[in-house]
Amino acid sequence: MRSSALGSLLAFLLLLRLPSCRGDDVAASDSVNPCCYLPCQHWGVCVRYGESSYECDCTRTGYYGENCTVPEFWTRVRHFLKPKPNVVHYILTHFHWLWDIVNNTFLRDVLMRLVLTVRSNLIPSPPTYNSKYGYLNWESYYNLSYYTRLLPPVPEDCPTPLGVKGKAGLPDPELLVERLLKRRTFRPDPQGSNLMFAFFAQHFTHQFFKTFNRMGLGFTKALSHGVDAGHVYGDNLQRQLQLRLLKDGKLKYQLVNGEMYPPTVDEVPIRMNYPPWIPPQDKIAIGHEVFGLLPGLGMYATLWLREHNRVCDVLRAEHPTWDDEQLFQTARLIIIGETIKIVIEEYVQHLSGYMLQLKFDPTLLFNSHFQYGNRIALEFSHLYHWHPLMPDSFVIDGDELSYKQFLYNTSVLTHYGIEKIVASFSRQVAGQINGGHNIPAQVTNVAVRTIKEGRELRVQPYNEYRKRFNLKPYASFREFTDNEEIARELEEFYGDIDAVEFYPGLMLERARPGAIFGESIVEMGAPFSLKGLLGNPICSPEYWKPSTFGGQVGFDMVNSATLKKLVCLNVKTCPYVAFRIPHGEKSHRRDGSKARTDEL
Ligand code: HEM
Ligand SMILES: *[C@@H]1O[C@H](CO)[C@@H](O)[C@H](O)[C@H]1NC(C)=O
Ligand SMILES: *[C@@H]1O[C@H](CO)[C@@H](O)[C@H](O)[C@H]1NC(C)=O
Ligand SMILES: *[C@@H]1O[C@H](CO)[C@@H](O)[C@H](O)[C@H]1NC(C)=O
Ligand SMILES: *[C@@H]1O[C@H](CO)[C@@H](O)[C@H](O)[C@H]1NC(C)=O
Repeated sequence: MRSSALGSLLAFLLLLRLPSCRGDDVAASDSVNPCCYLPCQHWGVCVRYGESSYECDCTRTGYYGENCTVPEFWTRVRHFLKPKPNVVHYILTHFHWLWDIVNNTFLRDVLMRLVLTVRSNLIPSPPTYNSKYGYLNWESYYNLSYYTRLLPPVPEDCPTPLGVKGKAGLPDPELLVERLLKRRTFRPDPQGSNLMFAFFAQHFTHQFFKTFNRMGLGFTKALSHGVDAGHVYGDNLQRQLQLRLLKDGKLKYQLVNGEMYPPTVDEVPIRMNYPPWIPPQDKIAIGHEVFGLLPGLGMYATLWLREHNRVCDVLRAEHPTWDDEQLFQTARLIIIGETIKIVIEEYVQHLSGYMLQLKFDPTLLFNSHFQYGNRIALEFSHLYHWHPLMPDSFVIDGDELSYKQFLYNTSVLTHYGIEKIVASFSRQVAGQINGGHNIPAQVTNVAVRTIKEGRELRVQPYNEYRKRFNLKPYASFREFTDNEEIARELEEFYGDIDAVEFYPGLMLERARPGAIFGESIVEMGAPFSLKGLLGNPICSPEYWKPSTFGGQVGFDMVNSATLKKLVCLNVKTCPYVAFRIPHGEKSHRRDGSKARTDEL
């Protein structure tokens, strides 16, 4: 009796002495970290005080009160005037007559500027948190090996994995994927995206999504955090020098049937990830070490290699005195510029479905407070796991290749040649991303790992991200999806709509009518994307001028780049090339095989 009272007293004194950040292993068991409630709304910051109290820092949020929930007067006005995202989206994707006018007047610039500023204002710049730090600090700012995080991780010591909402245990990721994400029958994208689009998405984004698991979870190998064409040139100087011819600015290549292809690992001994049984003379040597995986990636690698070397020829003709280094460096900036041009005006144009004709024009932002610079976010990487795009098999020149035949098949590229591959991929429809049940069985393991990673890194719930991007959090599973089966299963899995995890939420949300995506992927993805594209140094006032690109000729190449030119200036005969299947061809076809027979 006496000794236990003494014990309590001692424990009490000990608790008083220890600073709270060290004392939690003793104390946390009986008092819940109040930040687990994720109490601070409207971008407010939760700071824990003592054991069980907290404060929301509402500075410059436009709200005040204990949880930053009370709007200031002007916030109320702005909120009242601001149209809902789905309304804006509806307008942007309808009323052809209206956009016919807008596209051809100054209104195009006005709206494009608005799109860019409204979207990028949702991304903090300089960046904030990362997977280790849920508070601002210098290490997190300075250490580029981390992906940044838009929302801090859920605190460690919470009653449930997602804070306080939901069940104590999360659903088995394998089961979740099996029941809700795995494809039953292929569901084509109603917007008609093709494999040219799908492989562009994968090829383009893997220059800045390069998860570095050997360093630990939440790290990246792509240290420039943006569009740097590191997938063409390698992500470090040593690799780049190996890949370069060191003559006329060019990259090394080999000729097969008189056409330019990447060299092999035999000739350029760099690390490429292939299964062990593939001999060096069959491995292609390119910037990104995993791009031997898919001939679709090899196709884009080949196109950009040819484009780089073509640009070098143009530059050399203009500047006969320039040395290899200056030709190379200038060509690289042109390649980066061409990439951004194609991404905004064709790739984003296509996937947005907008009738506003998008414009890549950095000068639109020169009179605004836009910050140049970018840091890739973990959330953006999860959001971009678009594996439902992949078909059940790949049809090239009438041959149907299974995954087994397609993956790591080193002969496909040179066997068919770039023209036939482009022509075939441009005609084969890709899968719809949102709505569930559309990830091919061959890649469901990637989804499983993404869910596991999200948990280990304590990514906040899907609905918290909805709020972060000014979207209304879903109030029920039935509102979230119109698929009764998915709603029921999800409810069984999670119990509470506020406990649905980020990545499953993004993928399973109902698609917008006739669209590839649901609301969230677009409204969250676009800010990350546009900030990354326009935050590139070449878009800043000091860089964005002809001299940066070797003069007017180079600047013109950037400003007139198209997907079609990327292909057709680098092959002998120009095939059908686009990010969508040809108009008039029904997108409900299972794959491209019928298109081929139609054509023949
Ligand atoms: C047959 C085609 C594909 C295969 C076999 C494949 C396979 C993989 C694999 C094995 C990973 C690594 C997963 C991990 O270790 O956790 C991965 C990551 C990823 N995939 Fe795919 N994928 C394919 C298509 C695509 C497509 C079309 C996209 C579209 C954008 C895509 C986007 C991503 C992204 C963003 C990551 C994360 C990359 C990173 O963080 O480093 N994938 N994929
Ligand atoms: C603030 O949030 C906490 C935790 O969610 C809640 O308990 C409290 O009632 C909220 N306060 C106000 C004023 O709404
Ligand atoms: C970044 O952080 C990781 C993990 O703490 C560390 O291993 C690495 O050396 C840091 N990088 C730099 C440049 O400080
Ligand atoms: C406006 O641009 C969009 C997208 O490029 C296009 O679909 C629409 O037809 C254009 N209208 C005109 C006449 O420019
Ligand atoms: C590789 O692709 C070729 C077509 O280029 C095909 O004939 C062959 O079966 C594939 N190889 C394997 C190992 O599947």
